[in-house]
Amino acid sequence: ATAVPTEAGEYDFVVVANRLPVDATVTGAGVETNRSPGGLVTALAPIMREADGAWVGWAGTPDLDLDAFDDDDIHLVPVPLTADEIEAYYEGFSNGTLWPLLHDAVVDPEFHRTWWNSYVTVNRRFATAAAKAAAPGATVWVHDYQLMLVPSLLRALRPDLRIGFFLHIPFPPPEIFAQLPWRKQVVEGMLGADLVGTQRTSDAANILRSVRRHTDLTTRGQVVTVGSRWTRPERHVRIAAFPISIDSGSISALAETPEVIERAAQIRRELGDPAVMLLGVDRLDYTKGIRHRLKAFGELLQDGAVSVPDVTLVQVASPSREQVEEYRVLRDDVEVTVGRINGDHGALGRAAIHYLHHSYPLEEMVAMYRAADVMLITALRDGMNLVAKEYVAARTDLDGVLVLSEFAGAADELGQALIVNPHDIDGMKRAILEAIAMSPREKRRRMRALRRRVLDSDVQSWARSFLGTLGAMPSRDSHV
Ligand code: G6P
Repeated sequence: ATAVPTEAGEYDFVVVANRLPVDATVTGAGVETNRSPGGLVTALAPIMREADGAWVGWAGTPDLDLDAFDDDDIHLVPVPLTADEIEAYYEGFSNGTLWPLLHDAVVDPEFHRTWWNSYVTVNRRFATAAAKAAAPGATVWVHDYQLMLVPSLLRALRPDLRIGFFLHIPFPPPEIFAQLPWRKQVVEGMLGADLVGTQRTSDAANILRSVRRHTDLTTRGQVVTVGSRWTRPERHVRIAAFPISIDSGSISALAETPEVIERAAQIRRELGDPAVMLLGVDRLDYTKGIRHRLKAFGELLQDGAVSVPDVTLVQVASPSREQVEEYRVLRDDVEVTVGRINGDHGALGRAAIHYLHHSYPLEEMVAMYRAADVMLITALRDGMNLVAKEYVAARTDLDGVLVLSEFAGAADELGQALIVNPHDIDGMKRAILEAIAMSPREKRRRMRALRRRVLDSDVQSWARSFLGTLGAMPSRDSHV
């Protein structure tokens, strides 16, 4: 039997993610909290409440050392980051090295030893905080690329735990991943988990290929054997796809409320009642293919295939990672291009593109989805892309066309969308025209199939499926 770990805490279910579900800021009046970016909390909040869970993460502000607190019935354990760590661990190694590398190096990843050192330090801090929160034999679920070393660091501290890791972003082919000077450490970091989950089956296959390339471990199907039969304990790590989803039911319900339906009509009026409204909704990130989308739309206007004010594009670009150089370059590029297209093709009170550098509450987004005839998702690489699923969930009226990049994970499930290669500008232009011209009957046929998929697999079933598989893995005690 396992000895009770001296450092054990009291929580049977612990989520570890770079961000807490809320951002905390210090104001004159004390500490204020706001919902943080990312949708993980909708998936996990019900499970957290049921299972007496704790959530370990960063509160979004530099140098803020907060005590643990409860928010909305969830126990939150803040992990502090200094301003230097935000630069080296978050903006640096997480978002200047791993983010581009794991998205097929669509921009050049930078490799800096100082960034790596900070990543190790911060991952260790997260692992220590999780070890302190977890009860003996607890389940700990670690999330995403910012924390790829946490599973193995945590296992070293607490071999009694059941550890899951989910990678929300893609994992590239081994030929690309091999560029990383610390590739072996990162692969071994994930293998501290009992179960590694990915969005697409191709991501899981790519991890398995990197495991074979950079370690001596044996793999069989989805399973990696860690340790050997002779040097016990031997462990098995399963690596498999669990495509994430959204809270489909509640988005559908929201889309049916009179307020949202009225707001959708109002949005069309505010745009000057165009015949066709195209919509793009993205974090302002170079992986989203916004430049490619604007190029295709600009050319359609130039060719005279579409014209203002009949057709208008609304592009919501929510601010993201603004301290990272590549994101500044992207913002400048996008804003210059939008200005040029509007300058060339707009008229007084009639913009070709309505560009909004803001984040909006969910109700407003759902109203935009309902207002839009065509939703454009043109990511160059994307783990899943939840906007695609939100658009489908919002179209209870069975209207609207989804144009979807084959390089977004959502394309594996949403085959009834118009699937495009965003690098093929002519192909994308054809798809946009096809979407605009599609008959109501064809739209309904496709949207019905898409909705079936999105409503059947929601984020709750995603979490249940991952945790169910993790819970069925052989228990730690049998190895020790
Ligand atoms: C992606 C990542 C998340 C991240 C989110 C927002 O969805 O997979 O881990 O939280 O972007 O980015 P940010 O850097 O603001 O946390």
